[in-house]
Amino acid sequence: MKPELYREICDSLHHLLGEENDFIANAANTSALLFQSLPEVNWAGFYIARGSDLVLGPFQGKPACVRLPLGKGVCGAAAVEHRSVIVPDVSHFPGHIVCDPDARSEIAVPLLSWGRLIGVLDLDSATLNRFDEDDREGLESVAAILLASHSTAGLPDLDEQARGEEANSLS
Ligand code: SME
Repeated sequence: MKPELYREICDSLHHLLGEENDFIANAANTSALLFQSLPEVNWAGFYIARGSDLVLGPFQGKPACVRLPLGKGVCGAAAVEHRSVIVPDVSHFPGHIVCDPDARSEIAVPLLSWGRLIGVLDLDSATLNRFDEDDREGLESVAAILLASHSTAGLPDLDEQARGEEANSLS
């Protein structure tokens, strides 16, 4: 049963993250846990919000697209709409961004901290219609555990970097 599997994953994640509050380290272990625990998943990982793009973060699976524009593709839709997006058949999703031609279905869950977009958790499967409401609930719980694990102290680094990039592009 999927809810039971996600309960086990959430328990494992609590233990795995422990007291660590480094976002990148915790996101890396979260993607590894999901990839190892969930059947029929060929990619599990994160895109981090940076300016008007989502930039590839920790993941498990084949190498993937590095930058996704906000609002484009499945991840971009989840990011701008601030809601999870389940795509039963990626070939029917307008603007779907192909990173792995084997991917047939996908789910993207936004990472939101106090309403602010941090990034997106994305999973791909080579099976059509792989993800359902149980996955959405389970993965939203996973995202909540990850977000709770880091103090926002981990994020100013990302913000600072983004500000640095903006400053560079203006100069
Ligand atoms: N298919 C995604 C791009 C990311 S990968 O699947 C890893 C999208 O349309 O946003």
